[in-house]
Amino acid sequence: MSRRFLLLLLGGAACSPSSGLDGGPDDGTGGLGIPGTGGAAGSASGGALGTGGAGGGVGGTSATGGSVQTGGAAGAPAEPSPRLRSSFNDGWRFTTGDPEGAPDLSYTQAKQWILPTSNALRKEPADYVTRPNENFAGDVSYVTTDFDESSWQEVTLPHDYAIAGPFTNDVSSSMGRLPSPGTAWYRKTFTVPAEDAGKSLFFDLDGAMQYSMVWINGEMVGGWPYGYTSYRLDITDYVTPGEQNVVAVRVYTPTPNSANWDAGSSRWYPGAGLYRNVWLTSTAPVHVGHWGTQLTTPEVSAASASVDLQVTVDNDGDADQAIDLSTEVLELDATGNPIGEPVASLAPATLTVPAGGSATAALTGTIPNPKLWSVQPVGEPHLYVARTRVLAGGDLLDLYETEFGVRTIEFDGEGFWLNGQDVKMDGVCIHHDLGALGSAVNLRARQRQLEVLQDMGVNAIRTSHNPFEPELYELADRLGFLVMDEAFDVWNTGKAAHDHHEFFAEWHEQDLRALIRRDRNHPSVVMWSIGNEIVEQSDDVNGPALGAELTGICHEEDPTRPTVSGMNKAEPDSPFSGPIDTIGLNYQGTGVRDLGAQYPTYHSAFPDKFIVGTETTSTFSTRGTYLFPVTSEKGTPATGSSGVDTQNGIISSYDLYHADWSYSPDEEFESQDKWPYVGGEFVWTGFDYLGEPTPLDSVARSSYFGIVDLAGFKKDRFYLYQAHWRPDLPMAHILPHWTWPGREGQVTPVHVYTSGDSAELFINDVSQGERTKAQYEYRLRWDDVTYTAGEVRVVAYKGGQEWATDAVETAAAASALALTADRPAIRSDGADLAFVTLTVTDAEGRVVPAASNVVTFAVSGPGEIVATDNGDPTDNQVFSSLQRSAYSAMALAIVRALPGQSGELVVSATASGLADGTATISAE
Ligand code: GAL
Repeated sequence: MSRRFLLLLLGGAACSPSSGLDGGPDDGTGGLGIPGTGGAAGSASGGALGTGGAGGGVGGTSATGGSVQTGGAAGAPAEPSPRLRSSFNDGWRFTTGDPEGAPDLSYTQAKQWILPTSNALRKEPADYVTRPNENFAGDVSYVTTDFDESSWQEVTLPHDYAIAGPFTNDVSSSMGRLPSPGTAWYRKTFTVPAEDAGKSLFFDLDGAMQYSMVWINGEMVGGWPYGYTSYRLDITDYVTPGEQNVVAVRVYTPTPNSANWDAGSSRWYPGAGLYRNVWLTSTAPVHVGHWGTQLTTPEVSAASASVDLQVTVDNDGDADQAIDLSTEVLELDATGNPIGEPVASLAPATLTVPAGGSATAALTGTIPNPKLWSVQPVGEPHLYVARTRVLAGGDLLDLYETEFGVRTIEFDGEGFWLNGQDVKMDGVCIHHDLGALGSAVNLRARQRQLEVLQDMGVNAIRTSHNPFEPELYELADRLGFLVMDEAFDVWNTGKAAHDHHEFFAEWHEQDLRALIRRDRNHPSVVMWSIGNEIVEQSDDVNGPALGAELTGICHEEDPTRPTVSGMNKAEPDSPFSGPIDTIGLNYQGTGVRDLGAQYPTYHSAFPDKFIVGTETTSTFSTRGTYLFPVTSEKGTPATGSSGVDTQNGIISSYDLYHADWSYSPDEEFESQDKWPYVGGEFVWTGFDYLGEPTPLDSVARSSYFGIVDLAGFKKDRFYLYQAHWRPDLPMAHILPHWTWPGREGQVTPVHVYTSGDSAELFINDVSQGERTKAQYEYRLRWDDVTYTAGEVRVVAYKGGQEWATDAVETAAAASALALTADRPAIRSDGADLAFVTLTVTDAEGRVVPAASNVVTFAVSGPGEIVATDNGDPTDNQVFSSLQRSAYSAMALAIVRALPGQSGELVVSATASGLADGTATISAE
């Protein structure tokens, strides 16, 4: 374990357990509010997290007041704090298009007003941009205070306006055929209390898609082009406390001039509008700055962990201010509430913060017998919170919470070490959309994704290919996932005509520093990915120069984590990988095209560098669909004649058909096992996502890559990964289904995924023989089975002992609908959701695998159906439709309770000729 990249330390999230958001911890309203899985709403009150999606949705509760409620039985009493962060999601109006006769409002025109928003994220003051004295576009009707927007649509954030559809051939399938391109406006009238005069006021936008521009009372305040960056606007000078104020936001996604995949602004569905949470933060003029804490634990042992907390305090007032800083550390329970008395106090510091400036203090201390943050199965994700008080002459000016975990991370040529233990990254890439909910942030939807992935054995997530919403990282901290936090898909050379390259040169520094300052305290975040398949990989001058610059920024902002970049082209002897701390290989690790496996080649060239498969497999399938004959290979490219039914938009679920630049899951497992120095893989992808329906771009609008489909239903592949990544979980899974009228007597291969090492297969109790996994075999195959209706059953063994069984029976005709909710109770906060699964069964309750009945969903009681889905990448019915065809016997209804109303929600499903299904959920 010599030669390691860095001796790395912890992460602590600049994020209160309470507000749970922008890394600008804030009001302390108690808990992220992660819904529990067993039914009851999980943790504390008030995690202000919005929903969104087709039905709009209410953006969660507002903050409850300027105090920090410390929760836990022995916790301190509520303590008044001048800092308050409130949800700013409610009460917006929305329209598309610019007003008639508007001048050119493009980013190019506005940029002198927008760039100053990012000054604090520039290293060199010489790069600061001064806002012009005059206003920008102040007389455009939509920004003026007297404009009447009452005819606009009422919306609640988070709001993704494109998910409403309809699907259109004017937008490329790669962007999901959904209408995200174009211009849209949001307006909201608001007041801030008269007592806030003299306070500092901020808008915190977790992300706005894209080229957002913000006016208050007709004055342009600022904006941000990259739709995935969280940013803060100082609105103090624009708002009049005690009076009505109007905020207007313009967003714009470039309009492609064709529906070709490379004509737009993105290679996937970006979503559109104010699709993440927006917050109003007020503080005393002297306050902890934006993302103003950085917490590390440089020395960790069983006996103690040292804590090093840097606190940056801003002074927006006009007199220098002497302050005292004190910090106590509390342990958090699994729901994010502090437990008991502080476990440590950091040595206090005093500081004078100059008027109009800021100052930073370093506070240190020691946590005795620290409980380490880790991932399963090697450990538990224990968390702490550092509670910092800013005092002047005994008056509390600010109270700021930094959530963190104590852990060590190390990377070297032999692997990744978490708390000194060798941990493989059993990871997946995910895109940020939430399927039928679009890109509108929803905590419960993201939590459900992560729960499904954790059940599969996933311990690592790559945020491909952009910063995610703040909630993702908080969930990762709580649930115990490692995160490869990715910034960019392109640098200066674009992949699509209007993608990020159009403003990368002027914004990459600020975007990258924003990402790191926001996320660097999260223990889950272990690597910064500075780019995916960057075109400049092949540019031997600009590629390494930019790689060095971006890596340098990462080191400046966070000396504890290495950089990585997913490389699909750069070769070991090309200069690109030199300046980057670790080696990330997309596909080429196991081998692309006619290039052999590059893991060993890279390892020889860079024996000290950590190597990981940043992107692997790109295997396709549609859930529950099988095509014959089945290849006898370990994997083969999906083509019209192999594994693909283009007309019906189906790809065979034998999990053997992959992109032609890739290979099957089994082949990547083999590489990982052969070369144990490889630190793991990130499969493309954990879930299906909107857009990029390769290789069926002509018929579909969402992807085929997912291990789990767009509706969140497990494809067969789920069990292939579970068998490999959770070897101690007794499980066996048979594919295909066993209802094949017309296939009697025909060869119908049966494959079994099991964590056992051998198995015997039976058809109608007749043994088809026993199979044992050879070295580098990850599935058991009976490729010569002939189909006879009845039952196929497998008994799996491990070490000679019976280990797990599975059985599938031939179904009769469809007879009934069955509904199951993921949880028996949800919160009526407007954000929490129930995911209700429909299955079509025969009279005996057996799933009818090919059922495609048209189902109508309804709900009675104080709730509504937000969206429906079925996992079919070709379904062009809008997601808000209450009618949905079953796909491979399944469909999904996403249900929420009406805000503030409690009672029983009865969800029903009806289909012609079938018995109805119902599910009851209580709204609390
Ligand atoms: C990769 C790319 C991903 C996705 C994937 C599909 O090359 O990084 O974003 O496009 O291919 O296989």
